[in-house]
Amino acid sequence: MNVIIRADYEEISREAANIISAGLKENPKTVLGLATGGTPKELYRRLVKEYKKGELDFSQATSFNLDEYVGLGSENKQSYRYFMEKHLFSHVNMKTGNIHVPDGLAPDPQLHCMEYERMIAKAGGIDFQLLGIGSDGHIGFNEPGSSLASRTGVVVLARETIRDNSRFFDSEDQVPRMAISMGLGTIMDARKCIMLASGENKAEAVRKCIEGPLCAMTPASVLQMHPDTTVIIDEAAACKLERRDYYLWLEKTRRKLLYN
Ligand code: PGA
Repeated sequence: MNVIIRADYEEISREAANIISAGLKENPKTVLGLATGGTPKELYRRLVKEYKKGELDFSQATSFNLDEYVGLGSENKQSYRYFMEKHLFSHVNMKTGNIHVPDGLAPDPQLHCMEYERMIAKAGGIDFQLLGIGSDGHIGFNEPGSSLASRTGVVVLARETIRDNSRFFDSEDQVPRMAISMGLGTIMDARKCIMLASGENKAEAVRKCIEGPLCAMTPASVLQMHPDTTVIIDEAAACKLERRDYYLWLEKTRRKLLYN
């Protein structure tokens, strides 16, 4: 894993936005895997800003979101579809037909999940998969204990996730108990993964993901087996890493080799 440590949330957002923006400029037909939550908000704001300056074009891009709550439709303010419209889709020129978010109201969710996998394959696979990490080590809604090879499916949220996500709802009772999520196997098929984490409450999950054993109890640790994952974290999220100094030295050395 390529570990990039920056001072704060602003800086990790800028770093991730630069990677995605460069990828989109190099290949306008990029297939993006997108994430929701508090973490990617600033990254989306930066991409929108670049688009509005005329420096970025989403007209040929395709997107697939990681997950959606079962039972919430696009009009529901807590749905991930709503989040994406608010923070990205309504501001840029991505074609509606190229946007994919799992349908929380699908009449046959299992069938919908299989169809979602087929659509990703038909689009040629995901080029950049953006990821956050839960305080319990989940990516997407793949909770501890998930199969490391799972595909898109209907999952049950862990208590920790319900508690963490209740900050977006009026009360914990309102957080849906189930979701549709890309599986860990689906995420592992992406050509490049970019994981973002900010804040000390993520430090333990980040440590387990990068330095812990590869195991289903830390779903994000599956990324240790991914050939091209960049983890971009701020100092607070990096505070429990045993090899923090090494990652900083490694990045500095790489830059020197690349640019000298
Ligand atoms: P957050 O969620 O960005 O709101 O912290 C991350 C996640 O649960 O994957």
